[in-house]
Amino acid sequence: MGDLIAPHGGVLVNRVLTGEEKQVWLNRAEHFPKLPVSNRTVSDLFCIATGVFSPLTGFLKEKDYRSVCETMRLSDGTVWSIPVTLPVPEEREKEIAGAEYVSLLDEEQNIIAVVQVEELYRVDLREEARLVYKTEEEAHPGVRYLYSQSPLNLGGDIWLLKRPAYPFEDRLFDPAETREIFQKRGWKKVVGFQTRNPVHRAHEYIQKSALETVDGLFLHPLVGQTKTDDIPVDVRMKSYEVILKHYYPENRVFLGAYPAAMRYAGPREAVLHALVRKNYGCTHFIVGRDHAGVGDYYGTYDAQKIFSHFTAEELGITPLFFEHSFYCKKCAGMASYKTCPHDDEHHVILSGTKVRKMLSEGIAPPPEFSRPEVVEVLIEGLRNKVGV
Ligand code: ADX
Repeated sequence: MGDLIAPHGGVLVNRVLTGEEKQVWLNRAEHFPKLPVSNRTVSDLFCIATGVFSPLTGFLKEKDYRSVCETMRLSDGTVWSIPVTLPVPEEREKEIAGAEYVSLLDEEQNIIAVVQVEELYRVDLREEARLVYKTEEEAHPGVRYLYSQSPLNLGGDIWLLKRPAYPFEDRLFDPAETREIFQKRGWKKVVGFQTRNPVHRAHEYIQKSALETVDGLFLHPLVGQTKTDDIPVDVRMKSYEVILKHYYPENRVFLGAYPAAMRYAGPREAVLHALVRKNYGCTHFIVGRDHAGVGDYYGTYDAQKIFSHFTAEELGITPLFFEHSFYCKKCAGMASYKTCPHDDEHHVILSGTKVRKMLSEGIAPPPEFSRPEVVEVLIEGLRNKVGV
């Protein structure tokens, strides 16, 4: 791995079976109890298998689950902020408890992985919601999803037998691949950028501010499940391509797809997002305003403050914090509350909800908010969506 940053926990996990071994397990898997799993679980599985979630080698067992919920660490002390669990229907408890392995099925009923049945344990979903999401309200999309799941979890190691189909396969690079790419490009310092939105001027501003001090920018939009009112991933992906083409130096930016689902867990998800980007080979990670937040469940800078719970050595990756950024008409440029002395009346600030409404009505947000080339792609893309 040369002089690249070490993966979280020291070893990049690889639990993707190939060749003869895969064939042997595919044959065996036919005889294990079969468990259909959600898209979220498929994403988690893929992230575990390809090392995105290193050092996890499977779905959390009870000791780790409790430790993660209560202390944001695995039971061995390694920082880990979000429980990654495999819920199983209560009515299958007996059958699964008696098995050595379970085969996991995707929505098309294909066997995609096997899990070793190491533990079955019950959890209190409300407590998990309170600890992880800081709210028990079902109006929170992450909490709503959590409550829709069984409180019975299966903990154990996994092996991936089939790579799940994702949109933008050509943009889906595993951590082992991005590490190699960064190295080939000679990037020693790489800043990762998580997003579930099109790149607006504020995003561009903080990305480029960070890029001024590092070698490369890893633009890494999440392509797993998001809430239905977020901009659809295919439209977003086009907007990334167009903004990169017009406004970013090709040799300094790399666009990849992050296959995880969005949990909207705000601060805790920001920590996960940073650790995961370390696994991809990033040395730095951008955390701006209300990172991975939703509604007003989290304070504007809670996702930055949470990093103070950990030492620099424990994290390994360096978080780069940015204050709320915007275009200031008086400054005649991008700025933030940290750098701009003018009142809000001079600032071009639009909420995500307002922007989505404008775009779906075919109204262009001002060029100070979003690049016209991006707006064009978004309006066109949303017009073509059924029901918009
Ligand atoms: S999310 O994945 O974190 O929910 P989003 O796309 O909204 O996605 O934001 C991506 C990153 O940009 C996050 O780190 C967020 O904090 C930051 N960010 C978004 N808008 C702004 C802004 N106006 N000023 C500063 N940081 C911002």
